[in-house]
Amino acid sequence: VRAVTIVDQALELAERPDPQPGPGEVQVRVHGAGVNRADVLQRAGRYPSPPGVPADIPGMEFAGEVSALGEGVTTHAVGDRVFGIVGGGAQAELLTTSADACAPIPGELDLVTAGGIPEVYVTAHDAMRTRAGLQAGEHVVVHAVGSGVGIAVLQLAKALGCTVTGTARTAEKLDRALELGLDHAVLAPRELDPDTFAFELIEHGGPADVVIDLVGGPYVAADLGCAAVRGRVVVVGTLAGGRVELPLLGLMGKRLELHGTVLRARTIPEKAAAIRAFVDECEPWLADGTLRPVVERVLPLGGAQAAYDLLASDATFGKVILDATG
Ligand SMILES: NC(=O)c1ccc[n+]([C@@H]2O[C@H](COP(=O)([O-])OP(=O)(O)OC[C@H]3O[C@@H](n4cnc5c(N)ncnc54)[C@H](OP(=O)(O)O)[C@@H]3O)[C@@H](O)[C@H]2O)c1
Repeated sequence: VRAVTIVDQALELAERPDPQPGPGEVQVRVHGAGVNRADVLQRAGRYPSPPGVPADIPGMEFAGEVSALGEGVTTHAVGDRVFGIVGGGAQAELLTTSADACAPIPGELDLVTAGGIPEVYVTAHDAMRTRAGLQAGEHVVVHAVGSGVGIAVLQLAKALGCTVTGTARTAEKLDRALELGLDHAVLAPRELDPDTFAFELIEHGGPADVVIDLVGGPYVAADLGCAAVRGRVVVVGTLAGGRVELPLLGLMGKRLELHGTVLRARTIPEKAAAIRAFVDECEPWLADGTLRPVVERVLPLGGAQAAYDLLASDATFGKVILDATG
C-alpha cells in the first residue's frame, strides 16, 4: 500500500505492508484525506502523533470504503461508505481504525470531498455545541473565518440559526465568507491591538455570546473584550501564538467561560463520541448540502508536499484534500 511518509521534515510516498484490522477495528480503503495544520506541524517535527497510530504517516481525517473487518465488528460491512478522525495515518491508501470512530457518510457526497469533512466539522461542532453550549439565536464570533475550521463554524452556526461575525486578515476571504452567509465581516490588522479590535467587533455585530478562536495569541484578549455577559470563549488554535496576557477583571466581571480544546489527543471513545454527536445533529444538513465542504484544492497522495506548502502559505480558502485513489 502507498502511504505519505515523513522523512527528514519532508514528505515522500513509500510502500508499506497493508495494515490489518485488530479486534473491534475496520480496515478502510481511503478515497479522500484532508490536510490540516497539525500535519504541517508534524512534518516540521513539532507535533508527534499520539501512541497507537503510525509515527511517520500523517493524516488525521479520512473518507473511504470499509475493505475488511476485524474480529467482533458487527456494526459495519465491507463496502460501507465511512468517514472519521484518527490520531494519524490517514494519508495512505489503506488505514485501520476503531469501528466505533467511523461514521456512515450521509447522502450522495463524493468520497474524496468527504475526506475534508470530519476534522473541521467535528472540531467546529464540538467547540460550539459541546464546549460552549451554543443555542439558536446567539451571536458567534469566529476568527480566521476563511480557514477550513472557520468555514465549518460559519456554516454550522448559520444552520443552528445564529448570527455570525467573522474575521480574516485577507479582504477577499471576507467577501467569500459573506457569500456563504456571514452576517458581519471584520478585517483583522496584521498587528493586533486587542482593545481596539474588541471595540470594532462589538461595533459590527454586538457583544458575542460565543467566540470560536482559531488564532490565539493577542486575539484571546480581544475575545474577552468583545464577549457578552456570560459569554463563552473557546480557544481552538494558536496560529498567532500560545502565550498571552489576559484582562482577568473582564473575565470575572462578565462571568465568562474560557475553554480550550484539541481533538487529536483524545482517546478513541472520546473521538467516537465527538463524531457521533456531530453526525446525530448534522446528518440532515450534510445530506441536503446545508453543510458543504468548501474545497480549495485536491491533489494526489504524491502531491502531499505541495499540499502542505499550500496550506502553510495562508492563501487557501477552505480545504486542501489528498485524493488517495489516483
Ligand atoms: N483544537 C483542535 O482540535 C483543532 C482541530 C483542527 C484545527 N485546529 C486549529 O484551527 C486553526 C485553523 O485550522 P485550519 O486547518 O482550518 O486552517 P487553514 O485552513 O490552514 O487556515 C488558516 C488561516 O488562518 C489565518 N492565519 C494564519 N496565521 C494567522 C495569524 N498569525 N494571525 C491571524 N490569522 C492567521 C490565515 O488566513 P488569513 O490570514 O487570510 O485570515 C490562514 O489561511 C489552526 O490553528 C488549527 O491548528 C484545531
